[in-house]
Amino acid sequence: MGNPNDTLPKLSAPESSSTAGSTPATKQNRVQETLRHVLFVLVASVLAGLATYASRKSAYKRAYLTSLPESYALCAEHGKIYTVDEDRLNVDCILVKGDTIQATGSMDELHTYWDMYQNELVNKFYGGESKAKKPLTIVNTSMGSIVVPGLADAHAHLMLYGEKMQLNLEGAETIEDVLDRIEDYAASHPTASDDSEHWITGFGWDQTRWKDWKGGFPTKDDLESRALLANRSLALSRVDGHALWVSTRALELTMANIPGGSWPDVEGGEVVTDEKGDPTGVFLDAAMSLVPVPPPTQDEMEEHLEWAINDVLAVGLTSVHDAAVSIEMLKVFKRMAEEGRLKIRVYAMAHEGEAEYWGSRFEKLEDYGEDGKLNLQSVKLFTDGALGSWGAALLEPYSDKPETCGLMRSTEEALRETMSRFWNDGWGVNIHCIGDRANKAVLDIFEDLIQDNVSHNRRPRIEHAQIMQLEDLGRAGRLGVITSVQPTHATSDMWYAESRLGPSRIKGAYAYQTFLRSSRDNVLPLGSDFPVEGINPLLTFYAAVSRLDVEGNSPHGSGGWYPSESLSRAQALKGMTYDAAYASFAEEKLGSLTAGKKADFVVLDKDFMQLETPLADILTTKVMATVIGGQIMYGGV
Ligand SMILES: *[C@@H]1O[C@H](CO)[C@@H](O)[C@H](O)[C@H]1NC(C)=O
Ligand SMILES: *[C@@H]1O[C@H](CO)[C@@H](O)[C@H](O)[C@H]1NC(C)=O
Ligand SMILES: *[C@@H]1O[C@H](CO)[C@@H](O)[C@H](O)[C@H]1NC(C)=O
Ligand SMILES: [Zn+2]
Repeated sequence: MGNPNDTLPKLSAPESSSTAGSTPATKQNRVQETLRHVLFVLVASVLAGLATYASRKSAYKRAYLTSLPESYALCAEHGKIYTVDEDRLNVDCILVKGDTIQATGSMDELHTYWDMYQNELVNKFYGGESKAKKPLTIVNTSMGSIVVPGLADAHAHLMLYGEKMQLNLEGAETIEDVLDRIEDYAASHPTASDDSEHWITGFGWDQTRWKDWKGGFPTKDDLESRALLANRSLALSRVDGHALWVSTRALELTMANIPGGSWPDVEGGEVVTDEKGDPTGVFLDAAMSLVPVPPPTQDEMEEHLEWAINDVLAVGLTSVHDAAVSIEMLKVFKRMAEEGRLKIRVYAMAHEGEAEYWGSRFEKLEDYGEDGKLNLQSVKLFTDGALGSWGAALLEPYSDKPETCGLMRSTEEALRETMSRFWNDGWGVNIHCIGDRANKAVLDIFEDLIQDNVSHNRRPRIEHAQIMQLEDLGRAGRLGVITSVQPTHATSDMWYAESRLGPSRIKGAYAYQTFLRSSRDNVLPLGSDFPVEGINPLLTFYAAVSRLDVEGNSPHGSGGWYPSESLSRAQALKGMTYDAAYASFAEEKLGSLTAGKKADFVVLDKDFMQLETPLADILTTKVMATVIGGQIMYGGV
């Protein structure tokens, strides 16, 4: 839409009023002039009001499209299409034909382009018959909105997200609310009354939030109080993942699974019991693994994936890198891609447990499926645990727990063997590293692998790359090892990270600007690790540029936590588009609004790319439409 002022009728001031001061005028003349002036102002403002009203009305009444034609030019206000294409960062319009961007530029440029294209067509196929020319359909986005390339999440877990959100118990204010939600779910997923194979799993309960709650953990009897839940196998994870609340039936199945039938002492865990010593139905930490929750079936996984895809589209994501896809999960991804139901672009990282070498059990996939939305080029490996549980492998002891340095999942030698095997089999290697010891070990290995095998651009990736020695920050970039980071981890961890690492190591933690500056390929793909963090990519964008939590706070105040490591808005947008595409070998097809690339883009209702837009407004920005391959997959324009 144009500026409303563009449509104002051009009224030039009457001659007399501009010359009134220079010619001697009678009193009557002056009165007439004043009257005329008043009249002029009145008429002008009425006209202006009408024009504004008309343009608002037309904006309001403008057709709301939930599907788009085969070819169209999509236009925003002047320069409000952020292309992430270095050669033309901001344009007014993009021309789409089929699933591909044909051209970008001003409306005039696109009209010229379209005319040339139509001329060519009619000359070729219609003997120059100009009646055969088709007019260009212009689709204007609404005022105030912007268009950006389809957003990517470079590290997430789709099925886990779907599983978590399907029966989400977060935010419940009473236990009745929790039980209602579980009962609703049970009603929509009925099973025979004696079926204990189909478990119901849920996430996110938090008894500290329940009003009038008696205190302590809930019990199996609370679940038993609802008719639809009696005799079903339920396992419900607490919001922090450190407690599992189960039903009577689930408890029986757990008991049946335990050799000897008496509860073992579990190191690092607890089976909660009542005064009589009987289990109440809550298992803590390591004891949670006693509960024999079966892995989800193919159908359940498909349901989880569908659930996730709907939420992915609603937040403007068009591509997701799934950071651990097992053989069983891959079957579901492939089936949905074959049937054209995947909807979003998925870059899967293969992962199959810690057992023997599994590289030969997967095959690479390139633009797989009916509409080519599934890709698999790399494997996901792990080195260490997480900072929150002192599991990240550090070179020196934890500052707040000097008796430990965290844990490597395998020795450096074994890790070298594993990585080399996958690498020399031709796999892209993406590897989870949190602590500085894990990162150093992996960089040492990558350095050797790259040296031995320079002929291929393999794009090795370190997932998380949270804490590095200062010299390793630069080494990663120099070697072309891609650091795939999650800015919301920085703003979640910032409240305790420094006490855990101390004042000097913290300088090499969450060092996003340093990574980007030293990256040989100038890339820093951004992700969220959802469902660990929220799915909305604007949370990632906000955390990257502000280094603040969503309330606007940080341990260093409202200026952000170590703000020198924040990203500019342009860098953050590129990290969520082009850089993510690069990290998945897809930058020639995705990641920017450039002629020849796929027409993946998002229309958002606020221009959060402008510095004048307050940081808090990033979080209230709404997705109006998510477009993949030229077609609206969510919302409308
Ligand atoms: C789109 O906006 C332009 C001005 O920016 C206007 O000239 C044109 O008529 C609009 N087209 C439609 C279909 O709304
Ligand atoms: C509960 O399930 C078990 C087996 O899973 C079955 O033997 C029992 O009859 C069921 N009870 C009711 C009340 O349906
Ligand atoms: C380098 O990698 C390729 C696969 O990408 C493999 O075929 C080749 O054997 C490797 N070279 C060495 C020296 O391992
Ligand atoms: Zn992850």
